[in-house]
Amino acid sequence: MNKMLIQGGNKLFGELNISASKNAYLPILAATVLCEDKLVLHNYPFFTDADNMCKILTSLGANIENRDSDLIVDSSSLFSWGIESELASQVRSSIFMLGALLGRFKKARVAYPGGCEIGARPIDIHLAGFRKLGVKVEEKHGYIYCDAGNMHSAVILLDFPSVGATESLMMASVLTPGETKILNPAKEPEVVDLQNFLNKMGAKVRGAGTNEITITGVKKLHGCEFAPIKDRIIAGTYMIATAMCGGDVLLKGVKPDHLRAIIDKLDQTACKISIESDNIRVTSDGKPNALGKIETSVYPGLPTDLQAQIMALCCVSNGSTMIVENVFESRFKHVPELVKMGADVHVKDRVAFVRGVKKLYGASVSGMELRGTASLILAGLVAEGTTIVNNIKHVDRGYYHIEDDLATLGANIKRI
Ligand code: UD1
Repeated sequence: MNKMLIQGGNKLFGELNISASKNAYLPILAATVLCEDKLVLHNYPFFTDADNMCKILTSLGANIENRDSDLIVDSSSLFSWGIESELASQVRSSIFMLGALLGRFKKARVAYPGGCEIGARPIDIHLAGFRKLGVKVEEKHGYIYCDAGNMHSAVILLDFPSVGATESLMMASVLTPGETKILNPAKEPEVVDLQNFLNKMGAKVRGAGTNEITITGVKKLHGCEFAPIKDRIIAGTYMIATAMCGGDVLLKGVKPDHLRAIIDKLDQTACKISIESDNIRVTSDGKPNALGKIETSVYPGLPTDLQAQIMALCCVSNGSTMIVENVFESRFKHVPELVKMGADVHVKDRVAFVRGVKKLYGASVSGMELRGTASLILAGLVAEGTTIVNNIKHVDRGYYHIEDDLATLGANIKRI
């Protein structure tokens, strides 16, 4: 079941409930290590990245149970503070575990996550932050060894507002006495959600979403129930799909405030977006205008996680768009595949020049990474004829049965 078969040309109509956010769930799962009581997380999203994070927690000794759509995590009997390379290589977010393990055990050993499909993805900002907190960090034989025996509060200025580093340092500091400040932190909604989860467990964190996060160390955290936010990237993907295909789609449960950048861009393509509290309605005639120049940036800018999908839209738009990828250095792997479908895209370094064409044509294409694979599926939805998207496992990392959602809206798509 590793391919998606798509007959392009259908408009999309209907409603979808958006699932919980992968990028909120992953650090929250890591943070469960900090608490020795039972935790109940609602709306488990069943993405493979989340499943792999659960495997990591289980390997450390956590007891995890799925009850309906809830996840019950009991980390009271954790016995290990080390993550082996086989597990670490399956989900890059294993790096979040460093901060959580340091908070719980004051030591950690995590296999180096290495580069990935979208760039080298160094972790120097994470490690510099730990060193500021007094953690002894050693990198040898592919592992990062951390000793937090002398960990103390500190003021940490991040060179770049890295999402992962901000979250890792928040987790490392919640059980550290004193007041730690993270300056120039990431402001993504998922960072705010982690703050809310930590505080629900009894931590004292404030300022997430602003330029300064303050963490006042507490002695112990306690159990709680928590519902992570809905996935703004999945919602954004379906908004773009509707803008491309035409139709009328209501996306339910997602915070419109988290999607301002994409709402603004889709407004410019001439589709109609209306906001009804936590619901977003997209109405489109399927003839989007081009966007001129757009660039990805940290929140609240255009998310890099929607760059590939918005490129698929630009490929069938009326006019030309220049797309600048500012966050990751190697995030255009979907371009040669879109070109196989008839797209007119040229890449130079971090810039893609897209000239809209009248039609894309069905082809056999291959996904290389999560969001790029989603963009090929969107291209297949509007292409003339049959598209086969191979290597579909990438999309399962962050979407649960994307084909079912799209089929519910009327797309002709199935997994084969
Ligand atoms: C998170 C998201 C990912 C999203 C990205 C940017 C999760 C699980 N993943 O990834 O979907 O695309 O934010 O919004 O939440 N960098 C360094 N050194 C570091 C850390 C980062 O140079 O120590 C660089 C990265 O290589 C990248 C940029 O900073 O070029 C942004 O990375 P970061 O914000 O850390 O992204 P992630 O947390 O890995």
